[in-house]
Amino acid sequence: MLYSDKVIDHFTNPRNVGEIENADGVGEIGNAKCGDIMRMYLKIDDGIITDAKFKTFGCGAAIATSSMATELIKGNSVEDALKLTNKAVVEALDGLPPVKIHCSVLAEDAVKSALSDYYTKQGIDPVPIVGEIKEPEE
Ligand code: FES
Repeated sequence: MLYSDKVIDHFTNPRNVGEIENADGVGEIGNAKCGDIMRMYLKIDDGIITDAKFKTFGCGAAIATSSMATELIKGNSVEDALKLTNKAVVEALDGLPPVKIHCSVLAEDAVKSALSDYYTKQGIDPVPIVGEIKEPEE
């Protein structure tokens, strides 16, 4: 089987789909090559991510990785969410085929992009904290 049970579960029954009104951080990231787009909304209270929602216009793996990413960061501190890697998302999903790894990079970057927006809204320059977010190459 190409996809793990967890990937199929998060694709067919994605968690946290939607938008958050008055979100504290909103991020959007796209992959120019495949054309997939992910938008991430975060509600942050006292440095804790109390809610996370996403909208993904993309492939099944992009949906599964964004779903898993929201699950992994919900309830965590902003500092912990900053450490979320695409590798951690892939591991939590019991793996992805190599051609689909870039979809997990989109999930990591969507979280980072939303956190950048959060810092910007606080009047803090996000670049030294979050780093530059580049469009993924593949
Ligand atoms: Fe582009 Fe999955 S094929 S995000």
